[in-house]
Amino acid sequence: MRQSYTYVANLMSDFPTRFREAVGAGAALVQAPGTSDSVHAFARSVAAGLSDEPKWLHYRFLYDAEGSRLFEEITRQPEYYPTRTEAKILAKHAGEIKDVTGQVTLVELGSGYSVKTEYLLSAYSRDEEPVRYVPVDVSDSALRAASRSIAETFSDVEFTGINGTYRSAFPVLRQLSPQVLIFLGSSIGNFNDAEATSFWRSVADHLPAGNFFLLGVDLVKDVDVLEAAYNDAAGVTARFTKNYFARINGELGAALDLSQIEHSATWNPVLERMEIYARFHADQQLYVEPLDQTFDISAGERILIEVSRKYRLPKLQREFTAFGFDLRRVFTDEKKWYALLLLERIDDTLLRASYPSPTR
Ligand code: AVI
Repeated sequence: MRQSYTYVANLMSDFPTRFREAVGAGAALVQAPGTSDSVHAFARSVAAGLSDEPKWLHYRFLYDAEGSRLFEEITRQPEYYPTRTEAKILAKHAGEIKDVTGQVTLVELGSGYSVKTEYLLSAYSRDEEPVRYVPVDVSDSALRAASRSIAETFSDVEFTGINGTYRSAFPVLRQLSPQVLIFLGSSIGNFNDAEATSFWRSVADHLPAGNFFLLGVDLVKDVDVLEAAYNDAAGVTARFTKNYFARINGELGAALDLSQIEHSATWNPVLERMEIYARFHADQQLYVEPLDQTFDISAGERILIEVSRKYRLPKLQREFTAFGFDLRRVFTDEKKWYALLLLERIDDTLLRASYPSPTR
């Protein structure tokens, strides 16, 4: 089946209705509201983090065009095992995942170039029926590239991309039932506690009972393996960190000396997460032009720019059980470094009032 390239944009007022029409009409890309961050949103986020003690910056802004390119490069570094390990697990178990879920729509949050998803698409496209695939990503160019590559490999995939944040997909999940919602790459590990709780709550609220959730998570392991993965020898992760400040200079009118900023990634054994910092070697002033505000950063100060939480299955199981999910399968690699969890949303209408709340 050929992909049609109707681009449904500027239809922000009623996204769920527009999306339904697009799926029916075979449109390939639908623009969701609130996709791109304004310079003001970036400035406000930077100002909020730099006004706090200790200082932080939100990891979301790591991913401008250069940051996204650098992240792709990170995934190819020999020390960065998560992407490769997850791909191997998918390659081995895609057929079994399909056997459990049956022929359902595949919806993927943060799909990027959909490279690993092709293992699932090939398992789901073995039957006569066409496979519906709904990737969700903030990058329009990644969605277009994924659409082209999938059309070349699969003749029976109905591709309807949502160009938006993963949150933008929640209002349309009910229309896509029965489905398997896919969230790969251990991206859930980058959320802070409040964001993780709010994410689980949203998935629980929007995924109808009987639908599936396929979640990739990186597991706790030897500290040397973890620290090497975030301090690759080629220095790509260090460039990824520095690019944050290049972006601040370029978009917010700051004039930071990037040569005095160093990447540092360390394991926090108490919180069981990698912490990625920018360490300042000299006193610097960070001017945020859109807000006309200046922040002082001292020599020796560290700014937390990203956390990457690693999981233990029993603790994670308590978390998703609290939000009404049953574990149907766990797939892992032989070193037990990484896990793919296939969860099923259960009917827990009566329990909803007791979901953990982000404010508690
Ligand atoms: C996207 N995310 C899951 C990556 C991770 O491993 O936490 C981001 C990353 N940051 C540095 N290296 C990789």
